Amino acid sequence: MLLFSIFGNPVSHSISPRLHNSVLSAFNLNGCYIRKAIIEPEKLISSFKAMQLQGANVTVPHKEVAYAQCDEVRGIAQKIGAVNTLVKEGDKIIGYNTDAQGFYEAIKSFGAISSALILGAGGTAKAIATILQEHHIEATILNRSSSRLDFFEQKGFTCKTWDTFTCKPFDLIINTTSAGLKDEELPCEKALLEQIFQNAKYAFDVIYNQQTPFLTMAQRFNIPTKDGKEMLLYQAVLAFNLFFKNQYDFKKIENVMNEAFKI
Ligand SMILES: NC(=O)c1ccc[n+]([C@@H]2O[C@H](COP(=O)([O-])OP(=O)(O)OC[C@H]3O[C@@H](n4cnc5c(N)ncnc54)[C@H](OP(=O)(O)O)[C@@H]3O)[C@@H](O)[C@H]2O)c1
Repeated sequence: MLLFSIFGNPVSHSISPRLHNSVLSAFNLNGCYIRKAIIEPEKLISSFKAMQLQGANVTVPHKEVAYAQCDEVRGIAQKIGAVNTLVKEGDKIIGYNTDAQGFYEAIKSFGAISSALILGAGGTAKAIATILQEHHIEATILNRSSSRLDFFEQKGFTCKTWDTFTCKPFDLIINTTSAGLKDEELPCEKALLEQIFQNAKYAFDVIYNQQTPFLTMAQRFNIPTKDGKEMLLYQAVLAFNLFFKNQYDFKKIENVMNEAFKI
């Protein structure tokens, strides 16, 4: 039997087992996807090996540790410096990042986008900024502090803090902060966000299945919005296909996972 797992801390809330097990079952594959909380990050890869996994997904806070520990990193993950998918290939463990492409798949149904403002400068912002850059969408990073801006500055992004930012029109505004996840906070000052939304076309919040204050404000400006559900769905679809050497139809995996979301 093929065994897969989600690694993170905490992982009890993770929807990944439900998504992946639904496809394993629908495709009649002899496999199972479980949860494993990784308390000691230095043991991430040794846990993967000890559990004899075929593949794993990695979530907060271990994506950068996983990047550093896997035998080889492929694709856009090399630029991001974080992996969310691990695949056993012979004796090696290969790391990939499907968050970035998952985000890009999710914004495809918005209209044309040529500029974006990313609120936050953490790991998710790195993945999103990198995929936008690959698609020649000009991205500006706005963070409350300057402490995490080095990565973005080195890669040529325009980087601002709340103190240095002056507003201009952006097609897409993306909240990658955790503001609104467990509180009623906005990702930046209210007056500033109102100014930003006045000239924006679309708004995206990476937080999923939740009406955040960020999305509520965007809707007040009649801006089409999306939460992070599709990003989560597509990163899982892409990860599943990496586990199985891309042999399955993207749309079929998407349809099964989409149904599993509704349960
Ligand atoms: N939908 C999906 O598929 C998906 C995938 C990955 C992650 N996520 C979600 O993305 C979110 C961020 O994850 P992450 O790993 O990127 O986090 P992270 O690395 O901890 O980064 C958090 C960023 O948000 C900023 N921030 C935090 N609280 C804030 C607040 N109250 N106001 C303004 N800025 C604030 C931080 O600013 P400072 O630098 O000033 O501290 C930092 O730049 C989480 O909610 C996670 O669940 C969703």
